Amino acid sequence: MPQFYRDINPNKGNGFRSFLKALLMTLIMTLISLAINYVIAYMEGSTTSNSMDISSMWNIYNNYGVNPMSLSTYEKDIFANIVKSEDIHINFNDIGGNETLKDNIERLIIKPTLNPHIYSGRNLLKPPNGIILYGPPGTGKTMMARAVAKRIGGCFINVTSALIENKFYGESQKIVGAIFSIADKIKPCVIFFDEIDGLCGTRNILDQSHVTSVKTSLLSEMDGIHQRDPGVIVFGATNRIDNLDAALKRRMRLHIKVELPDKDSRREILEKVVNGEPLADDVDLDELADVADGMSGSDLTELCKLAAQYAIKENSNDSESILINKCHFDSAYCDLTEQ
Ligand SMILES: Nc1ncnc2c1ncn2[C@@H]1O[C@H](COP(=O)(O)OP(=O)(O)OP(=O)(O)O)[C@@H](O)[C@H]1O
Ligand SMILES: [Mg+2]
Repeated sequence: MPQFYRDINPNKGNGFRSFLKALLMTLIMTLISLAINYVIAYMEGSTTSNSMDISSMWNIYNNYGVNPMSLSTYEKDIFANIVKSEDIHINFNDIGGNETLKDNIERLIIKPTLNPHIYSGRNLLKPPNGIILYGPPGTGKTMMARAVAKRIGGCFINVTSALIENKFYGESQKIVGAIFSIADKIKPCVIFFDEIDGLCGTRNILDQSHVTSVKTSLLSEMDGIHQRDPGVIVFGATNRIDNLDAALKRRMRLHIKVELPDKDSRREILEKVVNGEPLADDVDLDELADVADGMSGSDLTELCKLAAQYAIKENSNDSESILINKCHFDSAYCDLTEQ
């Protein structure tokens, strides 16, 4: 130790030196572990984006309590498709009609997920982890899955075919695996497979091998999910349930049809959509619900938006006095039905 240092601090010299040594060792160990993690991540996912900036890593740690250094590149990529519960702005109350669907989901999914102690060790009462919602487009299937995530206070993982399809052989299966492993780390959460028939359609001899292997990994992940604690709910949505692979249908055992709304449901949807909007007295929602026979929830929402646009067009100078009246709805209806 240099003489000048001993002069300044004759008693604590050794203690300080050991402290510096320990600090140096910790730093070296951290650097080595960072390097090892980087190499592993690079080897695991050399063909996907393997770098992540510090702020994204901090976001993952801060928002989900997951150590970003422990994640594979595939797992990191999934985070771009996750919506946190507080960022979901759909509640059960926003869904018009669909009363049976809402009752079933509340009883079979929400209650057991929120009260796992009631069902623990009781295999027959365990909630189904896989639910298939099927029915015509625009009937609120995606909306329902998001509302479930909100209701259980969990995240929503939106799985589209763009997320899974990868041009490199073998990568897609790893992405499927990563979706489920991330879900397990951040549960409670909802994994939502949109247009699941595109991913796991009826198997046939013309399937290319990578398609078959994606299906196989999805099936084995669904098998695994039954062994785990509740908390990860898998929804699949499709317009064509007949095209779905039979083995997947068996694993996602709850199949619920989401129908086009009847008159009462249409009226309820219209009420929810126009809630708080400036409507003129001549707008009769009952009559509108009657006329809009055959329209989906999405069509009805579109109808109201179009009517509002007509109202704005007519009163572009004075936003205070804008009222949506019957004529605006009539014009919107003509536009939609003529398409
Ligand atoms: N029952 C409903 N109550 C209120 N709004 C609804 C309802 N159904 C649909 N909508 C409106 O339509 C939009 C589209 O619905 P959503 O995407 O959930 O339909 P979908 O069944 O998933 O359709 P697709 O099969 O085409 O994916 C919703 O964002 C919502 O604004
Ligand atoms: Mg949808």
